Amino acid sequence: MQNSKGSMDFDFNLKTNAKFGAKKALRLAQYLKELSLTRPGVIVDGGIAGLEYTKNVLAALEKEPGLTVKIWIYDLRHEPDYDSLDRIKTMFLDASDRPVTDCFIGIGGGSVLDFAKGLATVVVNPGKAVQYKGFPTGIVPSLPTIALPTTAGTGSEVTYNAVFTDNDAVKKLGINTRNNYPTLAVLDPLFTVNSPMSVTVSSGMDALVHTLESYMAVQSNPMSRIFAREAFSMVFNNLYLVKDNPGDVEVRAKIQYGAYLAGISLINSGSGIAGALSYPLGVHFKVPHGIAGAVFIAHVIKHNVKTGYDYSELYDLIDGVDRTLPKKVKNEQFSEKIFALCKRLEVPEKLGGFGVNSGNVHLFLHEIDSLERAFAQNPVPFTVEDGKRLVMSMTP
Ligand SMILES: [Fe+2]
Repeated sequence: MQNSKGSMDFDFNLKTNAKFGAKKALRLAQYLKELSLTRPGVIVDGGIAGLEYTKNVLAALEKEPGLTVKIWIYDLRHEPDYDSLDRIKTMFLDASDRPVTDCFIGIGGGSVLDFAKGLATVVVNPGKAVQYKGFPTGIVPSLPTIALPTTAGTGSEVTYNAVFTDNDAVKKLGINTRNNYPTLAVLDPLFTVNSPMSVTVSSGMDALVHTLESYMAVQSNPMSRIFAREAFSMVFNNLYLVKDNPGDVEVRAKIQYGAYLAGISLINSGSGIAGALSYPLGVHFKVPHGIAGAVFIAHVIKHNVKTGYDYSELYDLIDGVDRTLPKKVKNEQFSEKIFALCKRLEVPEKLGGFGVNSGNVHLFLHEIDSLERAFAQNPVPFTVEDGKRLVMSMTP
């Protein structure tokens, strides 16, 4: 399906209902009742479990009559892996290996939401979690999940994908089953307003990568691009503001909304080069996913502008720009504006800070051989050799 030219022949999926607004998380019990769910397993990010607002949200849930709430504070110091799923799922199973919960609620960043989605699958499917790696079919449908993102970026609250690392194979694969779209996303900016700037940047840049790559992916379609354009406007303009206004709930809410829109665009389109390159950097050098994509995105845009791809439509969405400029100038400036945002948010320009050097870069280069299909999503040619050249040019 190659619809980026605007052909009226495409599919579009959106299965997650959403509640937007400050203090919406305090109404979780009501939302569960509306869904006829009574036994939630709650996975809460350890980094926010002690915050007053999180405590209030959990207290409101626990005091609700008729609900049996089981909480696990997510304390993994690494990104989610299949081994941890095996270990934690036993908490949510009875002596006969039946789930004691009827749904999972994830309150946290992308890893926590992914973990909740993973648990929703493995508690109803026997054996080791790694058995369900990739895109499993013919399995028992996952339990419903409710996603409360506390960072704004991954879009996990609206996608069925859940990323897990296979520790033996040193690969990020995931458990991606199409019935695992969250049933409900609760987007409450009072969670994100407390995010440290490093987390805000990493997750926000993840959303920017999703926006740009899903916009230009060869598998994009007219409807996914509606979401990508609005996502770009929200994410780019408000990421620019957030550094000087970290406590501004309105700015936070708009980034969160943009990240959600970007997730919808992503699942109905495709990702691209920066997203693909982020995985080996994450697995081999333990770089958080958002930053790992962010270091490449401006270079991808620059390459595409040079090769003639047109971003003028997105350029016009940037606050304060001159919309009367010729397309060629808009494109050149667009590329510069992405570099400028990266600089403003202190996204590293080179890979040396992540521990990549001439002695170990082969680990990265080797993985690029398998990224050809992901690179093919880029709207203009970008070869495996181009990928290796880019990585080498960023290696000290
Ligand atoms: Fe991502």
